[in-house]
Amino acid sequence: MITIKDKTFVPFIAAESIQARIQELADQINQEYAGKQPLIVVVLNGAFLFAADLAKHLTIPCEITFIRVASYNATESSGTVKQILGLTEAIEGRDLIVVEDIVDTGLTIAQVCDQLQEKHPASLSIATLLFKPAALKKQLDLHYVGFEIENRFVLGYGLDYDGLGRNTPDILVLE
Ligand code: XMP
Ligand code: MG
Repeated sequence: MITIKDKTFVPFIAAESIQARIQELADQINQEYAGKQPLIVVVLNGAFLFAADLAKHLTIPCEITFIRVASYNATESSGTVKQILGLTEAIEGRDLIVVEDIVDTGLTIAQVCDQLQEKHPASLSIATLLFKPAALKKQLDLHYVGFEIENRFVLGYGLDYDGLGRNTPDILVLE
């Protein structure tokens, strides 16, 4: 159990289960990208631990790069627009694997993928550690999903509450 500010978080997914699932995802990626040299695009900050553990099990040659997503209010009614920061690699013709911590409404990853698609990659797939199907607002093709979870706020293993709590080997859930 962890208390951060006014909120209490209780155990949800144990470190051993996370690591076992990541090994399975890596095995799948190794098979499906055999003969290719994908560019792994890690969405910071949340995906840093997932990406690091996943990468250790990848046996295919791959490049790894890191992006941040900045939000700003759009002038249109669509709400928030996410802008990609930090991407310096050429994307055209590459096989991209976008690595996220969690897909909740799906709006963030959808906008990131739309912007990457504009740069004409050869292919693009998404690897997310967590997925909340009940919160999804956007039709998305999620290729690699660690765990489908219920629509509750989670923390740890990269995910934060108000900037805190990213540094746990387990995932916890708001009590
Ligand atoms: P969307 O809704 O765009 O959200 O798919 C994606 C981003 O929102 C954050 N997020 C969470 N962070 N616990 C967290 O610590 C959660 O349960 C949670 N749900 C969404 C996260 O930054 C993610 O990339
Ligand atoms: Mg995130």
